[in-house]
Amino acid sequence: MTDQRPGPSAVSGDGLKDCCAAAYSSDVVALLLGDSYHPGGTALTRRLAEGLRLTESGRVLDVASGRGTTALLLADTYDVRVDGVDYSPANTAFAQGAASTAGLGDRAAFITGDAEGLPHPDGIFEAVVCECALCTFPDKARAAAEFARVLVPGGRVGITDVTAVPDRLAPELTGLAARIACISDARPLSEYSRILAAAGLRTVRTERHNQAMTRMIDQIEARLNLLRMTASAKLTAAGVDLDAAPAVLAAARTAVADGTLGYALLIAEKSP
Ligand SMILES: C[S@@+](CC[C@H](N)C(=O)[O-])C[C@H]1O[C@@H](n2cnc3c(N)ncnc32)[C@H](O)[C@@H]1O
Repeated sequence: MTDQRPGPSAVSGDGLKDCCAAAYSSDVVALLLGDSYHPGGTALTRRLAEGLRLTESGRVLDVASGRGTTALLLADTYDVRVDGVDYSPANTAFAQGAASTAGLGDRAAFITGDAEGLPHPDGIFEAVVCECALCTFPDKARAAAEFARVLVPGGRVGITDVTAVPDRLAPELTGLAARIACISDARPLSEYSRILAAAGLRTVRTERHNQAMTRMIDQIEARLNLLRMTASAKLTAAGVDLDAAPAVLAAARTAVADGTLGYALLIAEKSP
């Protein structure tokens, strides 16, 4: 819903990552989305964690860790050591501060980096998680190869992400703003599996959670309506196009209802 009109092809590679990271660093986005920047929130993160076979001594990497909500939940609930990496320095700093505030500074550490070139050595994590972000990465195959590289043999990757049937997306859902909103470059669940398989990660579980997408659309609409009255200048300054937002939200709701858009959980394993 940010008002940056060029089509997604006009911005590519690092430019796209910069746009995405800047959007998800804004306080207005935090007001719209809450702590977890993905449909399903922490409940879906817990569901994902159940499939990862985490052990107390294990290390977990949260790729595109945002403000640290997923990583801190895993460190706190499963007693694992979690490293978070995000393209946005502001998010990294926020997450590190949240870790200290929560008394988890010894078990959660955050650095700024790129999912397509992770700044971590080979084979050190028993699990990699990536929530609502693979859909935004320009080179998904490279990111998947990086997930595989940093995993130990037999390690698992847990993904929750937007799914889409790209050639059925309405025009409102295909611009740069929709790309940043995790929609326009989302792929069908089967394609995510294929991308992971090509990197040596075999899918062992998939689940559809499309209703979580609808709930997030409802939440954004309700909060936008509130903020429109109290903070419209802030929204506009952050690039939110208040005039376009209702049509984008309506198109997204229709797309979920007819199966064009959805949200899914996927767990894949690196061969032992
Ligand atoms: C929709 S948010 C999801 C954040 C978090 N995973 C969550 O679910 O709360 C997408 C995040 O991906 C980050 N991001 C975008 N491109 C990235 C890249 N190439 N490498 C690492 N992080 C990236 C953004 O900065 C943003 O924090």
